[in-house]
Amino acid sequence: MRIVLLGSGRGSNAEAILKAQSADRLGRARVVQIFSDRPDAGILELGPRFDVAARFVDPAPFKTKLEGEGEARWIEAIRACEPDLIVLAGFMRVLKPGFLNAFAGKIINLHPSLLPSFPGLDGIGQAFRAGVKVTGCTVHYVTLEVDAGKIIEQAQVPVGPGDTLATLTEKVHAAEHALLPAVIARLSGETGG
Ligand code: GAR
Repeated sequence: MRIVLLGSGRGSNAEAILKAQSADRLGRARVVQIFSDRPDAGILELGPRFDVAARFVDPAPFKTKLEGEGEARWIEAIRACEPDLIVLAGFMRVLKPGFLNAFAGKIINLHPSLLPSFPGLDGIGQAFRAGVKVTGCTVHYVTLEVDAGKIIEQAQVPVGPGDTLATLTEKVHAAEHALLPAVIARLSGETGG
């Protein structure tokens, strides 16, 4: 099963996936390419470390979505990789119908809350400020409505009385690092690809 990783940030979840692959814990999945919409993103540094191709693809002209020329460039670059699964690991752009239709049913996203609670930006901060006793993370299929596609798997993180936003953030990230590789491994077994 050929995996393409998309990310905009430091890439700790992509790193967890690549470490799982190195440790033979990613089932039949194999990361074939990393793409970022930011030329300075930490996720791109994982390429040489894990011997996976990694590069920036220009998302212009928009700042928060992939549409128009940028979308066309991204579709072409990803198609060339012939992916079975596209994993959004901290990819902070809204995807539009052109992209979603090009890879229908093949895009999954990681979100740092128990969806449908706290969609959108800063899922951890939203949950912390709401005072919930349990939060967590979600892996779901990507659809047109942001953070609303079918849920594949979730992991819970209890919020203790002594938790700060910083400690909660650390706990949610740890849960993400376990959940996402496990989901990919499971999906790779289900498709047999
Ligand atoms: C993760 O916490 C992920 O859940 C979040 O971005 C972070 C990326 O961290 N994604 C979203 O908020 C998407 N709406 P990373 O770059 O270290 O993997």
